[in-house]
Amino acid sequence: MWVFRQVQQLQTFVRQQKKQGRHFGFAPTMGALHEGHVSLIKQAKVENELAVASIFVNPTQFNESSDLEKYPRTEEKDLLLLEKVGCDVVFLPSVEEVYPSGLDTTVPIDLGYLVEPMEGQFRPGHFEGVVEVVHRLLEITLADSLYMGQKDYQQFAVVQEMIRQLSLPVHIVRCPIIREEDGLAKSSRNVRLTAQDRHTAPALYQLLQRAQQQLLEGQSPSSISAGAMQFMAELPNFRPEYFSIVDGSTLRPIIDKDQQHQGIVACLACWAGQVRLIDNHVLLEKSTD
Ligand code: PAJ
Repeated sequence: MWVFRQVQQLQTFVRQQKKQGRHFGFAPTMGALHEGHVSLIKQAKVENELAVASIFVNPTQFNESSDLEKYPRTEEKDLLLLEKVGCDVVFLPSVEEVYPSGLDTTVPIDLGYLVEPMEGQFRPGHFEGVVEVVHRLLEITLADSLYMGQKDYQQFAVVQEMIRQLSLPVHIVRCPIIREEDGLAKSSRNVRLTAQDRHTAPALYQLLQRAQQQLLEGQSPSSISAGAMQFMAELPNFRPEYFSIVDGSTLRPIIDKDQQHQGIVACLACWAGQVRLIDNHVLLEKSTD
């Protein structure tokens, strides 16, 4: 496994490999890796000659500096795991490498409504930071395919829209959510849950599954969401931010399941003590007609 910390060294390597016709599948991460991240690398590896991962805790996407400081950093363990799963290249840059002074890395596009609801509402500026870093990492890695998780549904939609608007020469792949056996979506933040909150947390996925059932039974999205918000608020020590049933592509609220849509997704965010959890579930696939 090659490990690069400098942009120039990585790019020299990438260019050499590209000359030999090798394709790169790239999975950007912020480290503290778990099986969710590993699944992206594995898929990249299956579909490309080389799998590249980056580990970079991007300061521009944190709207609270305490969250940035608290973010777990487990570099040695991460490298061992990446090596074990057959990752070929790891990019581990410093902040200065990604954002050298004098380089304008902002991405001048209008993401419109996609960045307004849900995470956009509760984490202002977050997606601008995500777009900035993913754009910069794509420019550095020259990846052919980009692997991102459905776990961050809105993030995926936003990055996909950036690629579309800028016509970037990269193919984006959405990878399924990897869950614990009890249904809790894997997250680097889960280790910070207290034993009691960890015990309660699988209720969030159960709620998403129940929403699917309720939608199929004809209950309206607004009443399902209201019920889910109330349910989360009653979980001890849990504090919901949103439970939204949205169009899978535009992220606009769904009023009626029989309206035209490009898939229906339920997305939620809820605090469990000091830990912010997000999850989502596709309730109805995009109709094919
Ligand atoms: P991070 O939270 O480290 O996640 C990196 C990637 O792993 C994202 O694409 C995320 O959706 C995916 N992922 C996380 N948990 C997952 C799970 N349980 N199942 C499947 N995939 C999962 O998301 C970020 O980092 C950053 O915003 C980043 C894109 C790297 C930009 O800084």
